[in-house]
Amino acid sequence: MMWKRLALFSALGVAYAAITDPAKLDACPGYKATNVKALGSKLTANLELAGTACNVYGPDISKLKLEVTYETKTRIHVKITDASKERYEVPESVLPRPKADPFTLPHTSAIQFNYTTSPFSFSIIRNSNKEVLFSTGSHPIIFEPQYLRVKTDLPANPNLYGLGEHTDSFRLSTHNYTRTLWSRDAYGVPNNTNLYGNHPIYYEHRTTGTHGVFLTNSNGMDIKIDDTNGTSLEYNVIGGILDFYFLAGSETNPAEVTKQYSEITGTPAEVPYWGFGFHQCRFGYTDYVHVANVITNYSAASIPLETMWTDIDYMDRRRIFTLDPQYFPLNRVREIVDWLHAHDQKYIVMTDPAVAYAVGEDYAPLDRGSALDVWLKAANGSYSLGAVWPGVTVYPDWFHPKTQEYWNKEFEIFYNPKTGVDIDGVWIDMNEPASFCDYPCTDPFEQARLQNLPPPRSTLPPDPNAPIFNQTAALRKRAVIDHTGEDLQNPPYAIEISTTALSDRTAYVDAKHANGLIEYDTHNLYGTMMSIATHDAMLARRPGRRTLVITRSTYPGAGSKVGKWLGDNLSDWEHYRNSISGILSMASVFQIPMVGADICGFGGNTTETLCARWAALGSFYPFMRNHNGDTSISQEFYLWPTVAQAARNAIDIRYRLLDYLYTSLHTSSQDGSPLLSPLWYAYPQDSNTFPIDLQFLFGPSILVSPVTEENSTTVSAYFPKDIFYDFQTLAPLQGQGSAVTFENVNFTSIPLHIKGGVVLPLRETGAMTITQLRKVDFELVVAPGSNGQASGLLYVDDGDSIQQKSTTNVKFTFKQSALTVGGSFGFPIGVKVARVKFLNVSKTPKTVKVNGRELKKGAFTYDASSKVLVATLAIPFTQGFVVQYS
Ligand code: NOJ
Repeated sequence: MMWKRLALFSALGVAYAAITDPAKLDACPGYKATNVKALGSKLTANLELAGTACNVYGPDISKLKLEVTYETKTRIHVKITDASKERYEVPESVLPRPKADPFTLPHTSAIQFNYTTSPFSFSIIRNSNKEVLFSTGSHPIIFEPQYLRVKTDLPANPNLYGLGEHTDSFRLSTHNYTRTLWSRDAYGVPNNTNLYGNHPIYYEHRTTGTHGVFLTNSNGMDIKIDDTNGTSLEYNVIGGILDFYFLAGSETNPAEVTKQYSEITGTPAEVPYWGFGFHQCRFGYTDYVHVANVITNYSAASIPLETMWTDIDYMDRRRIFTLDPQYFPLNRVREIVDWLHAHDQKYIVMTDPAVAYAVGEDYAPLDRGSALDVWLKAANGSYSLGAVWPGVTVYPDWFHPKTQEYWNKEFEIFYNPKTGVDIDGVWIDMNEPASFCDYPCTDPFEQARLQNLPPPRSTLPPDPNAPIFNQTAALRKRAVIDHTGEDLQNPPYAIEISTTALSDRTAYVDAKHANGLIEYDTHNLYGTMMSIATHDAMLARRPGRRTLVITRSTYPGAGSKVGKWLGDNLSDWEHYRNSISGILSMASVFQIPMVGADICGFGGNTTETLCARWAALGSFYPFMRNHNGDTSISQEFYLWPTVAQAARNAIDIRYRLLDYLYTSLHTSSQDGSPLLSPLWYAYPQDSNTFPIDLQFLFGPSILVSPVTEENSTTVSAYFPKDIFYDFQTLAPLQGQGSAVTFENVNFTSIPLHIKGGVVLPLRETGAMTITQLRKVDFELVVAPGSNGQASGLLYVDDGDSIQQKSTTNVKFTFKQSALTVGGSFGFPIGVKVARVKFLNVSKTPKTVKVNGRELKKGAFTYDASSKVLVATLAIPFTQGFVVQYS
């Protein structure tokens, strides 16, 4: 860890000595609460500096105001800000604040806000058991223009999760550990560094309950967790205000805290059904023939390809909203899109935010943006320039009132089925926002790089005659926030970023947005704002339809509009492994469930065995995409027989489970339930599960336990005391609260288990596209829990519309040997229930009845070794029914 520099710096003309020893911060005077007023759900107070200012990283602000609101029974909002001057707050246009219930009263709340007046400190207590969840008691609050500090004590060895984006263990280290939040283009996604997304939320799990703490602040920050002198967690934030939401979670069910967090972030967006299909991408599909070949090769290899992607290679000199006339001419690209659509497949391309600053070159997307004046401005009012793929660039200012109009227009012109490229979804990248060097890139190396942007094409264009297929939200106007006298480039408290300065390889922090806000404050929002604008632009093109947008940089709330991929990982086993904690953090903590990592790895060269294992693991990422870097060897699944087989097997299972996944996302979109879960969500009392991040639950009931070591065919997986069933054989496995070793897991398979207690609506095997999948019959798998019962849900709609005309909501219940299928059948599923498989049946039944009528003898079979009873039904899935055996 970088140690804080000892520096003399000047803010507002006064010199302050930066404190090098964090312990000395505790000697600061803190504040004294006066004029405390508690009325109904609200408590307000003035906070006045309680002694001689300690001015650690600037002058202490002498008067603050405190506002505490019991917003719901499970949420307390604590806001501390400057009493005399408006400070930057995360704009509501990016993250609307949740509605509060004005009738919430402190005594009805699950958690309590307690305080002491002098020095002011506060704690959050769980009412049911009086446990202290958060307490600033021993650590004075420090509030300076560019340094805000709040520190809480924690119990020893806390189980903390969140505070990402990161590639560290899912359960966070508690020893001398810093999480730095500042969006960064982070090739190789190294451990323990700031990455693309910023999520200042953590959940703490205890066997007595799970709660959450969210700091709504988009400024750069270090969150330090340490157990050297008792355990503590300390926020060190370089701007904005202290705007905390405390979430009570629950004593018994950890998923409750995820749901409560979704009241702030918004529940996840539903995606089009096809979005869950398999996606193929790479940087380096040099021309349209290359793209067409990949599509046909997938088909020839019988590996279901749902969506083909094209990276920046399609662009003319890497300028967004253009096509290269020789390598990706419009007629050829349209041929590809038409081919895909004719085969029920989809097409997605990349759109970066940076627009080539090609003045006078007839580059209409630049000229139209300049006419509307929508570019981010430098401190002196000129355009804020960067160096990205096309060379020198400007960046859209998402705060400008006309940027949405601009973006919509560009989408309307370029992504237009009649005149341009008919895309089905959008991939947005480089939206930290990234810059390759700090423009004007004075360093000779950087200069040379800039001169070489865009790099010349290294291949010849294809023969143009050869055949290719042989077969707005309203923006809230904010006052200009006054940063006069502050050092924005090198703030007195230096957060532990991996680059040398805050402005390094991104927009300058003093860049100005149209509404007066400064990049210093809003940097971490850029990717999410681009996500919202892109989502809305697609919606404008295709009104009423869901859209799939996949972004790189995120802030809380992004998941309510878009999905995310985890950026530029490497083709190695470490990145294969840590992708699991990455997707778990996004899906179970940050409310961005449509998430995946680049399968087979982005940077470096993959290997056959790694790619085979990754094809299988990636089939259980909600967003499943094989993506690769431009200098890496090719890694399409069909290139190696083992990988091809691994992909066929795992995608087949994924597709059979797709209605289960789709139903789970629908549930998440309704109430914020997690789409993926760590094992401890399901077994909150089993402390063995707390650190597990190499296994996870896909939806609530499928346990994924991949092999995680190179060249190994063995995995030792943890099974809590519960009943599970092998997904392939359906034989029961009684978990003992210990590890089970699976030997001989060949490279084309992955251990999967059904957690007892569920009825799974599976599709039959063999679909090559999502359109086909929706036409195949169901089979129901009844997997009783330890109590002999099971239940499940199936949600079906048209898979595309935001507002559905009709939906089908089926509820399955199994008890006393009877499966009851009920619910509403508004949307025509259009297929049959081919059969029901009852698991863990102890002996051959004498009869099986459907709606009271006995099935003929040959219509059911029983296998004593696996204890599976299969009843063949073939009944139209248009209404409820009961199947019972005895
Ligand atoms: C960076 C992205 O992370 C990567 O996925 C993409 O291939 C390159 N940019 C090129 O667009």
